[in-house]
Amino acid sequence: MRAAISLLVLLFSMCGAQTRSTQIEVQTESQSTGAAAAVAEVSPQLDVSAELKELRDMVVELRVTLRYTQDELKVMKAENSDVKERLVASETKVKALEMVTAAQEAKLTAVKTRLAATETEVDNLEKEIKPAPKVAFSAGLTNSGFIESGNTELNLVFSRIITNVGQAYSSTTGFFTAPVRGVYYFRFTVMEVLSSRYMEIQMFKNGQQLMELYEYDSDGKATYLSSGLTLQLEVGDEVNLRIPPGHRLYDDSNNDSTFSGFLLVPL
Ligand SMILES: *[C@@H]1O[C@H](CO)[C@@H](O)[C@H](O)[C@H]1NC(C)=O
Repeated sequence: MRAAISLLVLLFSMCGAQTRSTQIEVQTESQSTGAAAAVAEVSPQLDVSAELKELRDMVVELRVTLRYTQDELKVMKAENSDVKERLVASETKVKALEMVTAAQEAKLTAVKTRLAATETEVDNLEKEIKPAPKVAFSAGLTNSGFIESGNTELNLVFSRIITNVGQAYSSTTGFFTAPVRGVYYFRFTVMEVLSSRYMEIQMFKNGQQLMELYEYDSDGKATYLSSGLTLQLEVGDEVNLRIPPGHRLYDDSNNDSTFSGFLLVPL
């Protein structure tokens, strides 16, 4: 290439000389051109026009190649910027997706927390709405007339069961035993036939007296004592009725003396 350029330069300078020599030739034929002699001296076989043509072709070819390369470069540049744009867009999308994922994870965590809280609430509600045990009883004292205490107090055994749902009352001991913590109501009505004497009735909770009623009469006819108490009981608390020493009560098939109780609300 460098050789070709040097040759080209040389050729141009020679062409100029040749033109000048032609003009000179027209005027003075006697003057012969030194340039022709120089050409002959440099390269005796050189076909100048052919070389020129070849060089021109080469230049044209190089121009075409250059244009083609430039075009290709342009296309590549365009492609490159397109790829860059798409990459940026993808990165933006990835960031947005990451944010959405984070938001969803946060939501999921919140939902999980609320679910756990709801489960706890449901558990508590289930405990609350656990069906209350059914507890209610009524019993008559006896079917055989007078019941007497003698020299010591007497725990009354109301042996004639009328109702005993939940079996919390015992017709063999006369004691009610609380099956659950709760508020209960107990009541009684007892009868005596009083001819110048006292009748008396006491209610006990775990051996501790809660109530004592008495009556004196002398007409030899039936007298009744009746009352009731609302009691808060723990599981296993016992309630019963008692008469002091030297007292008695009466009952027969009419159910003159009865003891009743039931659970109002569990606690
Ligand atoms: C007394 O109670 C019994 C149940 O223990 C019942 O069968 C009877 O009819 C009652 N008596 C009266 C007179 O109501």
